[in-house]
Amino acid sequence: MRNILTKAVTVAAAAALALAATGCSSERDGQSTDGRTGGGTTAKGFAADSLIGVALPSKTSENWVLAGDLFTDGLKDAGFKSDVQYAGASATVADQQGQISAMLTKGAKVIVIGAADAAQLSTQVKQAKESGAVVVAYDRLITNTKDVDYYVAFDNFKVGQLQGQALLDGMKAKKPKGPWTVELFSGSPDDNNSAVFFNGAMDVLKPLIDKGDIVVGSGQSEVKQTAIQGWKAENAQQRMDSLLTSTYNSGKTLDGVLSPNDTLARAILTSVKGAGKPLPVVTGQDSEVESVKSIVAGEQYSTINKDTRKLVAETIKMIKALQAGKAPEINDSKSYNNGAKIVPAYLLPPVIVTKANAAEAYANDPKLAALTK
Ligand code: BGC
Repeated sequence: MRNILTKAVTVAAAAALALAATGCSSERDGQSTDGRTGGGTTAKGFAADSLIGVALPSKTSENWVLAGDLFTDGLKDAGFKSDVQYAGASATVADQQGQISAMLTKGAKVIVIGAADAAQLSTQVKQAKESGAVVVAYDRLITNTKDVDYYVAFDNFKVGQLQGQALLDGMKAKKPKGPWTVELFSGSPDDNNSAVFFNGAMDVLKPLIDKGDIVVGSGQSEVKQTAIQGWKAENAQQRMDSLLTSTYNSGKTLDGVLSPNDTLARAILTSVKGAGKPLPVVTGQDSEVESVKSIVAGEQYSTINKDTRKLVAETIKMIKALQAGKAPEINDSKSYNNGAKIVPAYLLPPVIVTKANAAEAYANDPKLAALTK
């Protein structure tokens, strides 16, 4: 009897503990990892017609243009007021800093930020914190500050891995046995994503480079040597032009180019065409219209589908939870250390697209699906 009672008590105690632990962890999900609630507004919510600020970088790729339109419409449909701004083409950092401050002055309750420069926003996000607003980093992480509450993005490391694998698959399909000669490109150094994409790709490529199966023709394989300032097409075209002159003028074949996105992929292809050389396998990202056409035409080899509609919808879902005083859903609390804290994240899965699966990959996207017919 005593034994049974002890057991019953133990079971009840364990259940109570488990309940407490669950409560604890779901509450923890709603907090910054340093224990503070998101902006102090998480617990109490805010008025359903509040102002939401959305500060996007300059329009360096189509996804940003799309995101702005989707935020304007989606926030309106959800009953919020919105202020959606882009950093200009030059003075991007100062533009964005000023825009965020202005949104806070107008009383925004949440600031969604696609950072123009990951490391240059600590003053503005601190200002957000002090005014009680929640800061959501959108697509690009904001670094070296504790004042970022959440991160919503596609899994950027996975994007890089898919790009590395696509480069390899594409080269194998053309020439089954290595060694393959490649060049590597990465994005703008002020965008935190650039190194993450590159590291993801190198996760696949580095072991093959070490074995000698893949050779970086120019020898430029450090992320710094491969970076394209401002994600600008002209900078990528220029770098490719000089690589072709320095390394591929005496008959060496270039089998593949790791390109971090579609804008740069098309610039690289333009450079190679201009030099009259055979087209290498070139990767990309973003599913931009011109690149999807190029893939279907057999020029660019691959892209990544990061459906902006889903990313914006996920962000608005997060804002609605915050408005209602609930903890937003998080599915990653370990991957994104911004140098000051691990930022709780909601990550979506990216999809690799080549000519072989384009129709299937864009089946739910009428604009892109039409290009695959
Ligand atoms: C985004 C990419 C985009 C690039 C340039 C990155 O932060 O994740 O999708 O191609 O910025 O705009």
